[in-house]
Formats: sequence, C-alpha cells, structure tokens
Amino acid sequence: MGIQWRESLAIGVEEIDNQHKELLLRFDRLLNACQGGRGIEELKKLQAFLDEYVHTHFNDEEALQRKYHYPGYEAHHAEHLYFINKINILKAETEQEGVSTHHVIETNNMLLKWLLNHISKVDMELGAFLKSATS
Ligand SMILES: [Fe+2]
Repeated sequence: MGIQWRESLAIGVEEIDNQHKELLLRFDRLLNACQGGRGIEELKKLQAFLDEYVHTHFNDEEALQRKYHYPGYEAHHAEHLYFINKINILKAETEQEGVSTHHVIETNNMLLKWLLNHISKVDMELGAFLKSATS
C-alpha cells in the first residue's frame, strides 16, 4: 500500500500541483510507516507538518480564487474548513489521549477519502476555471 502522485491529479496550476505533490509525499510516508509498524511516531510528524502546510496551501488556493472572483469560492472554502476542523479534532485527541492506532487509521482514512476526492473533484474544477479565466 502506498500513494503516489499521478498526472491525472494535476489541476494545471504549478504552484498548487507542487503543494499537492508534497502533501501526497508526506501522506505516503505515513502509509509506509504504518506498514513498518512506525505509524504512531510518524503520525506526530505528519500532524506537525499539516498544521503549518495545510494553512499555507489552502490560503494560496483561496487567494487565487479571490483574485479571479471564483464563483465556487464559498463552497470550496467550506471544504477546507471541514478538513482543518477534522485535523484539529484528531490532533486535540492525540494530545489528550496519546497517539493510538485508531488515530493513525482515522488519519489515513480521512486523507485517502477527503484529500484525494477534494483534489480530483473540487480542486480540479478550480483548475479548469483558472485555465479559462487566464487564457
Ligand atoms: Fe482546495
């Protein structure tokens, strides 16, 4: 099991695509760590990374949307908030209870389902819009 960037995930904005590549790379590290029995340690590293990176990444995406008056901005922003909220809840839980296997599994599930779905649908629509807005 592992996850890899593929061209079909490219939304056509280099900066955003590179940020998505980095996210998938970090996520792949967690999946590999799980296979090697190091999921709990790696989850802490991923959480620290996501804390900062996700904010930067979402802000960059949203700044582009505002710049080009993207009509789907509100819905897209709401999806980002949902993800940040989930990440924060999981982080608070692990801080209170310590990291356990179910936190690792939940993080894996969320990243697999939410992140891939978001990139391949919601971000892809944004990419198509930006392409037509800037050409
Ligand atoms: Fe997005």
